[in-house]
Amino acid sequence: MRVLGIETSCDETAAAVLADGRLVASVVASQADLHARFGGVVPELASRRHLERLGPVIDEALAQAAAGLREIDAVAVTCGPGLVGALTVGVAAAKALAFASGRPLIGVNHLEGHIYANFIGHPDVPFPSLVLIVSGAHSDLVLMTGHGAYHVLGRTRDDAPGEAFDKVARALGLGYPGGPALERLAREGRPGAVPLPRPFATEATFDFSFSGLKTAVVRSLAAASAGAADGRPAGFAADLAAAFQENLVEVLVAKTARAAAERGVRAIILAGGVAANALLRARMAAAAARLGLPFYVPPMALCTDNAGMIAEAGWVRLSRGLRSSLRLGAYADLDLEREVPETSEAGDRPGSPDRAV
Ligand code: KG4
Ligand code: ZN
Repeated sequence: MRVLGIETSCDETAAAVLADGRLVASVVASQADLHARFGGVVPELASRRHLERLGPVIDEALAQAAAGLREIDAVAVTCGPGLVGALTVGVAAAKALAFASGRPLIGVNHLEGHIYANFIGHPDVPFPSLVLIVSGAHSDLVLMTGHGAYHVLGRTRDDAPGEAFDKVARALGLGYPGGPALERLAREGRPGAVPLPRPFATEATFDFSFSGLKTAVVRSLAAASAGAADGRPAGFAADLAAAFQENLVEVLVAKTARAAAERGVRAIILAGGVAANALLRARMAAAAARLGLPFYVPPMALCTDNAGMIAEAGWVRLSRGLRSSLRLGAYADLDLEREVPETSEAGDRPGSPDRAV
């Protein structure tokens, strides 16, 4: 069974092939260069670039997998949440491929995709599991009780962690995307040197808030620059980056560990672009070990947006008898707790195409 995965929800054009649960091809064409000079993703430009790149990216993934379209058994695609124009390019391509080849189409929630990056090569992750999804747009603490069964315990009330990383990096003049650059700078700094808030760290809620932390960083930066006649003290930016990263990671880990203990889960799962952060990976692994729980985090390349995770989530959905009609659309907001629109149970007709358009 070979599943072609397609991902175009933001600024990565990606295609992948999963063969019997093994990732045999994964191609990611980043648009970071295109958006860098604007300091963030420009939706219209993202859609156009997806349109130019998606065809060649799919061809390259099929070539890596040494497969033609005929050898593909299903097409899985991200249908939300994300930028509608960007999503539309992937969904339209997936619908055309599914229709032309007569194979099932599977619409995948992008957040479910991030979670399923953890299942590639680990199909037996135990349930219930506690999942922390941290990306450029999301910060969700989720109780996963089975395949496709999610209960959101908390989410961010303002900025997502990746967004906070990107905004702080921008204030420090580190460019876009800022997460990896800020992490590098933080390695040279002293996390305790600059006092910053730890928002909601000890409060009962499982919600997060990161905009106050971000604002505190920007204020410290302005104060330090104004206070010194010849600019900021040497090493100040690195200290600030280290303190910001430390506090953000601390809050994420503390809340995840508390939720895991309270809910009596059997594993902790980390997912999303910010899961590529080395400090977060290490601290979360240590917290899970203290609780005696197995800890899952995808390899770095599968943390940020990719199509392997979409193919995996699609494959599991297909195995559960789920598929999408060709009426599938692109959805800016898609709730993890609710079923993807246009989904039907067709377990009794595996592989038969839905011709409804
Ligand atoms: O999951 P993702 O690729 O896209 C979304 O679905 O949003 O996440 C991208 C986010 C960006 O904000 C980026 O700065 C952040 O993940 N990120 C990191 C690291 N690598 C990527 N943040 C902190 N440390 C990193 N190493
Ligand atoms: Zn993502």
